[in-house]
Amino acid sequence: MSDEDRDVLSAITNQVASAIENANLYHELKETFYGTAQALAETIEKRDPYTGGHTQRVMSYSLDIGRMMGLSDHDTEELRLAAILHDIGKIGVRDSILLKNDRLDVDEALIMNQHTKFGSEILAHIKTLHHIIPGVRNHHEKFDGSGYPDGLSGDAIPLIARIIAVADTFDAMTTDRPYRKALPRQTAVDELIRLSGTQFDAEIVLHFVRSLSMMKETACC
Ligand SMILES: [Fe+2]
Repeated sequence: MSDEDRDVLSAITNQVASAIENANLYHELKETFYGTAQALAETIEKRDPYTGGHTQRVMSYSLDIGRMMGLSDHDTEELRLAAILHDIGKIGVRDSILLKNDRLDVDEALIMNQHTKFGSEILAHIKTLHHIIPGVRNHHEKFDGSGYPDGLSGDAIPLIARIIAVADTFDAMTTDRPYRKALPRQTAVDELIRLSGTQFDAEIVLHFVRSLSMMKETACC
């Protein structure tokens, strides 16, 4: 091997080493990023034990829908983060409302509804999370425009928020609350279908129902 060959080889080796180091750093950075998002989400779950596991389930249902819709890797990552952090704004809702063992009255519900705005304000501080703000801020919009906080309707509601809305409501209906028992899964599905086109994007409900039936088939056979 000539001196020239040795120099070229050494330059290539250095480049590969630095590429590996960069990849490791990127991996670590990504882990830290997701870990921080998860920790932020858990702060709210720790305050309200009734929401225990809610975030994970909403994320899992949301990703099932995303898969059925054939979302790109980029959009799937955005969906995952927005689903993890969708209720982070509840950190700004006082305990007497957040932990109330009964249905909220009108005034209390208005305060609770603020969690969508609080969530977007909290995330506004983190530049790398700006892209998921619409998913967090608009997950309580309704397809007919009667939701909050911005009264958006139809396709004007960000796609990721429309997906989280279906996943979030299904999980809320199928889990026990202090003031009511969980609905059977089929009843919750019927309710999603009934509200298709008014509260929810009908196409997304369809994808979700399909993903649930596929899960059932996998579980049973
Ligand atoms: Fe919410």
